[in-house]
Amino acid sequence: MFDSFSEQDRNLIIAAEKARENAYNPYSRFYVGAALLAQNGEIITGANVENASYGLTICAERSALVRANIQGIRQLEKIAISTRGESFDVKEPTMPCGACRQWIYEFTQLSDTDIEIISVSTKREKVLVASIFELLPRAFGPKDLGIDLSRFQKS
Ligand code: THU
Repeated sequence: MFDSFSEQDRNLIIAAEKARENAYNPYSRFYVGAALLAQNGEIITGANVENASYGLTICAERSALVRANIQGIRQLEKIAISTRGESFDVKEPTMPCGACRQWIYEFTQLSDTDIEIISVSTKREKVLVASIFELLPRAFGPKDLGIDLSRFQKS
């Protein structure tokens, strides 16, 4: 399964797995790592960062997107996700939560491409590939507001 991916995709998955281990997760003890592949070939990673005020937690996907923006990168191609529990392996690859889907959709609009999501179970025995248009069909976005994002598109 993992072996059938391109070298670039395998590197992206490995980056997500490494980032996962930096999860700050004292409350859920759930580890999530995300790795974005930018259109310029750069990889930007993120991990979930929890908070004692639980609802303020930031998911791995959004932390990676914020980081990409800080690096001046808004044009993306793919996102790899890897998860594990503290005392269990995740067998079914985790797909982004609703809030993260909306965030990824925003970057889809900036990227002029349907961002691909590759999610891998803890031990890589199962991989799910989906596109954001599949995961968030008929999404609300900048076009609904009549907003042209072209001047915000970079790298
Ligand atoms: N989490 C993510 O990082 N990404 C998701 O798409 C789903 C959930 C995190 C948030 C929280 O730290 C933990 O997983 C349990 O919900």
